[in-house]
Amino acid sequence: MAPTSSENAPDTVLVVDFGAQYAQLIARRVREARVYSEIVPSTMPASEMLAKNPKAIILSGGPSSVYAEDAPSLDREIFEAGVPVLGICYGFQLMAQALGGTVDNTGSREYGRTGLTVSKPASTLFEGTPVEQQVWMSHGDACSEAPAGFTVTASTDEVPVAAFENDERKLYGIQHHPEVMHTTFGQQELEHFLYRGAGLTPSWTTESIVDEQVEAIRAQVGSRRAICALSGGVDSAVAAALVQKAIGTQLTCVYVDHGLMRKGETEQVEKDFVAATGVQLKVVDASERFLGALAGVSDPEQKRKIIGREFIRVFEQAQAEIVAEAPSDEPVAFLVQGTLYPDVVESGGGTGTANIKSHHNVGGLPEDLEFELVEPLRKLFKDEVRMVGQELGLPAEIVQRQPFPGPGLGIRIIGEVTRERLDLLREADAIAREELTAAGLDGDIWQCPVVLLADVRSVGVQGDARTYGHPVVLRPVSSEDAMTADWSRLPYDVLGRISTRITNEVSEINRVTLDVTSKPPGTIEWE
Ligand code: XMP
Repeated sequence: MAPTSSENAPDTVLVVDFGAQYAQLIARRVREARVYSEIVPSTMPASEMLAKNPKAIILSGGPSSVYAEDAPSLDREIFEAGVPVLGICYGFQLMAQALGGTVDNTGSREYGRTGLTVSKPASTLFEGTPVEQQVWMSHGDACSEAPAGFTVTASTDEVPVAAFENDERKLYGIQHHPEVMHTTFGQQELEHFLYRGAGLTPSWTTESIVDEQVEAIRAQVGSRRAICALSGGVDSAVAAALVQKAIGTQLTCVYVDHGLMRKGETEQVEKDFVAATGVQLKVVDASERFLGALAGVSDPEQKRKIIGREFIRVFEQAQAEIVAEAPSDEPVAFLVQGTLYPDVVESGGGTGTANIKSHHNVGGLPEDLEFELVEPLRKLFKDEVRMVGQELGLPAEIVQRQPFPGPGLGIRIIGEVTRERLDLLREADAIAREELTAAGLDGDIWQCPVVLLADVRSVGVQGDARTYGHPVVLRPVSSEDAMTADWSRLPYDVLGRISTRITNEVSEINRVTLDVTSKPPGTIEWE
C-alpha cells in the first residue's frame, strides 16, 4: 500500500476525468504551474472527492454531449462546497447546466483553432491576455446563457458564452481547452485560476517532492529492509535513489546483467550510479545463463518469457544471498518499484496496491512475491521523474536515458540472439545514439530503437569486395506516452551520418534502413 499522506503532503488540485484524453494533459499543466494535481474518475462520489481536501477542482473535457442519455454527470455538491472549480469544455457545459444556465444542443460543431474575443479583460482568468486570442475548441453543444450570478467573460463567432466566472463563489468556466498548445494563453489562464482564483502558490517543486517522499518512505519502511531491481532505466534508478536517500543501508539494489544491455549501460549503473548515490549494489553477471536459455529461440514472445523467467530466478537467488550475507533481525520486507503515475491512472487506481502491467514490469517480476511495494514515483509523470533524478544528483546519462525495454536488445534482434549478434547491435546502437545526441535531437525523439535483421542478408560492395551482410533498421519515434507514436522526421544529414558510420565501423552490417511507420499500425519495437 503506497503511503498517501504525510505532514509534507502538498496542496492538491483534483482533475475530474470525463473520459477524454485531456485529463492527463491538464494534470501535467497544473504541475507545470508548480501545483500538485491528481486525476480522479468522474464516477467518484462527490463526498469522496471532497474528503481528499482539494484546494481546487478542475473538470476536464469529455467526448459526450450533456444531453446524451449516458452522459457522465457530477454531484452539485461540488459547486456548493466552497472549493474553487474550473470547468473546461464538457466540464464547462456541465457547470452551466447544473447551475441554471442554458446549454443548447446546437448540432453544429466548433473544432480546432478558433478566435476568442475576451469581453472582460480584467476578469480573473483573462487578465493580462489580449482581447483577441487563439484558442483550441472541440465541442458540439454550446452555452447560450450563463447561470445567474455569473459574468460572461468571452465569446466566439459561434458561441455567445465561451467563458464565464463568478468570483465570489470561485467558480470559473471556459469552453476552450487551455491545456493544449494551440491555445496561446492557455497556461496563463490555468495559472490565473490556480493563483488568483484558488489562491494557491507555486510551491510544488522537485525539492518538495523529494522531502515528501523521503518522509513517506521512512514512515512506510521503518527499520525493516528493502530490495530494488535496477534495470539501468530512469524509473528504477530514480526510485532507488529516493529510497536510498530515505533509508540508506536498509536498501540493497540488485542489478542483473543479462548481457542484453546497450553499450556502456552496465558500467554506468555499476560505477556512476553507485558513485552518485552511495547505494549498496549487488551485481549479478548472468549473461551466460541468459544466452544459454535463449539459444535457438527466435520467437519474440518466447524470448520475453525466457528472459522474464531467468530474471526471476536470478533475482530470487540474489535476494537469498543478500539475506544470508548480512543476517539481521530485520526482514527484507519491501520491494522498490518505479511505477509511474500514468500506469496508476490507466490501471484505474488512485491509491492502493498497484496493478502493474507485466509490460512495464522490469524484466517481469512475479506477481506473487511476498513483498510490500514501495513505489515513490506513483504520483509522478516521466518528465517529473527526470527532474527528481536531477535533483538527487544522478548522472545525466541515466536521467536523460530513453525508455529501453526490460528484455533489452534481446527483442531488437530479429532471429536468434547470440553474443556475436549482440555485439554488432550494441555497436550500431551506440553510433546511432551518439549521433542523435551530437545533433541535439535527444529531446525531440521519444526513443530510437536500432533493430538488427539477423536472419536477413543482402549484397553490398565495400572497397573492391562484395559483401553479404545484415541490415539494421533505425526506428526513431516521437511520442507522449508510447501508446501512440509517429516516426520522427530526422534531418537527412543526421540519418546520412548514422548510416555512413554504422556501415563503415560495424563489420557485417552493410545496409541501414529507416522505419517510417506510425503506431498504430506498427508498434515501436519490432518484436
Ligand atoms: P511497443 O513496441 O509496444 O512499445 O510499441 C511501447 C513501449 O514499451 C517498450 N517495450 C517494453 N518494455 N518490456 C518492457 O519493459 C517489454 O517487453 C517491452 N516491449 C516494448 C518499448 O521500448 C516502448 O517504449
